[in-house]
Amino acid sequence: MAKPIIKTPEQIEKIRYAGMINNRILDAVGEMIRPGISTEEINRVVHEKTLELGGIPAPLNFEGFPKSVCTSVNDVVCHGIPSEDEILMEGDIVNVDVTTIVDEYYADASRMYGIGKVSPEAEKLVKVTKECLDLSLQAVRPGNYMGKIGEIIQEHAEKNGFQVVPDICGHGVGVDFHEEPLVFHVKRRQKGPKLEAGMIFTIEPMINQGSSDWFIDEEDGWTVWTEDGGLSAQWEYTVLVTEDGYEILAD
Ligand code: MF3
Ligand code: CO
Ligand code: CO
Repeated sequence: MAKPIIKTPEQIEKIRYAGMINNRILDAVGEMIRPGISTEEINRVVHEKTLELGGIPAPLNFEGFPKSVCTSVNDVVCHGIPSEDEILMEGDIVNVDVTTIVDEYYADASRMYGIGKVSPEAEKLVKVTKECLDLSLQAVRPGNYMGKIGEIIQEHAEKNGFQVVPDICGHGVGVDFHEEPLVFHVKRRQKGPKLEAGMIFTIEPMINQGSSDWFIDEEDGWTVWTEDGGLSAQWEYTVLVTEDGYEILAD
């Protein structure tokens, strides 16, 4: 595995700014998302808000992805494609994953939104997934092994009766959309690189109500579905390793 990029103070400043813009785009989604809208309407808001704030939506045309944002509803694990035909209904849970390029630098974050009143089970999954991500930040400081992040996430998810998707990872980010290192969300034999100040990466656990197995939609080539049709939730932050811990650059 290639060595993770250690960002310079100038690069960190640019990525921090991209993160601030990315957060404002996710805020705009929070203000418009409601029962009865289509996921294409989320795409429209993300696209327009991104341009208005001086950014470029990184997903659009990335390896052929056709839209400006990923919208993953209920049993979609990630990489859902917004569609005019997909109408959000009361009780749905939706992940909106926004990645923004500003002045050539990238920030990547996603949030979950409950549509109207959601079931207690769905609410618990969404809450525990966020707790997994927040708890894992304790492991982010120079000298720690990257592997500690996945250990914390897996332990908290399984304690609550859920399964972490083991094979879709976080990633270095900032100069490019996806950089070294991979950030695993489960415990592994290999403890992974030691963290150093100036590393920037995402942590983005995907957690399933049932089995962690998944498959890619044959028709669109992108949408990742749970194998068993159970619900899946995800949260994602862009995180900087600082001298004494971490700074969240996008959430
Ligand atoms: N934003 C996703 C991630 O967290 C990647 C989406 S790739 C796309 O890494 F092409 F689907 F946009
Ligand atoms: Co993302
Ligand atoms: Co990401």
